[in-house]
Amino acid sequence: MDVLDRRDFLKTAASVGAGSLLARAVPFETAYAGTVHAKAGGFTPVAVSSSNGLHAAERAMEMIDSGADALDAVIAGVNIVEDDPQDHTVGYGGLPNEDGVVELDACVMHGPTGRGGGVAALRNIRNPSKVARLVMERTDHVLIVGEGALRFARAHGFREENLLTDEAREEWLRWKETMSTQDDWLPPHGMDEKDIGAVLEKRERSTGTITCLGLDRKGGISGCTTTSGLAFKIPGRVGDSPIPGAGLYVDNAVGAAGSTGRGEANLLACSCAIIVEHMRNGASPEEACLRACRRIVERTVERRLRDDEGRPLFNVRFYAINAKGEHGSASIWSGGTYAVSEGKGKTRLLDSAYLYRRPTK
Ligand code: GLY
Repeated sequence: MDVLDRRDFLKTAASVGAGSLLARAVPFETAYAGTVHAKAGGFTPVAVSSSNGLHAAERAMEMIDSGADALDAVIAGVNIVEDDPQDHTVGYGGLPNEDGVVELDACVMHGPTGRGGGVAALRNIRNPSKVARLVMERTDHVLIVGEGALRFARAHGFREENLLTDEAREEWLRWKETMSTQDDWLPPHGMDEKDIGAVLEKRERSTGTITCLGLDRKGGISGCTTTSGLAFKIPGRVGDSPIPGAGLYVDNAVGAAGSTGRGEANLLACSCAIIVEHMRNGASPEEACLRACRRIVERTVERRLRDDEGRPLFNVRFYAINAKGEHGSASIWSGGTYAVSEGKGKTRLLDSAYLYRRPTK
């Protein structure tokens, strides 16, 4: 290998340094303005969301109809759910980690500029989607986690608050008190071992999340996925939602995909990037989502994660749009729906395709 002499090295270092300073000095809007290119037409603007995002899709589509960039629209859409204490899977009121602390994950991707940003294990800030957007726009990074993400949010003036509502705390406490008969946390008076056994039998830990995808009037495609993650997770656990390629992926020439459900499965299958690649190769959004479900089934070989027929004991759901504005969704297990909005008065829930029919109880 050639060794640079000191003068060449300093010259190279100086030019690289100047380049990176220049890159840092260009704000997002300026960078974006140079890359906007309206598509030739032949597409229908649309917003799609997971089933908990009916209002999110509606809000996103209202903004798209009034000329907003799809990124602004999808973030405004998911903010409704992040702010809603009744949704225990996202933002304020989300179920906490095993220590009773709410930790949030989110990412955004902006198709026209090919940029993205995310935050993970973020505490005390109810709108991680907004912080993810600032990671994209105001840093040269893609993902900031934990204490660093909180400090970054503080630097941008976000207000800190306790995200654990009483309802979520009580659910966490029930979980903790019925975890084992061998520890010192006692369930409410009157519950015996049999009752606890019944609770444990039925126990499902939530992996709900919201994803919202939008195609705007200029042909720009963007997406956002945001979540409180797996309920009662080990502190610091990061799911698929803040990871571009896993819980969200956008390619402006092709389309976008987002996901809800067991994040570990998506992380190991890179599902959303794969869905976009299936659409690039001609698959419809629904077929691309179904293929991602099959990929997860094929990759789930651990016995503890499969039922007696070899099917996953968990669910994963996918949502996708293509550059024409066609949309689709699929999940491993039946019973899923997704939200679509194509304009005022045209917002509805549609059935998702699926691989396996859920056994009736
Ligand atoms: N898909 C959400 C999570 O697993 O965190």
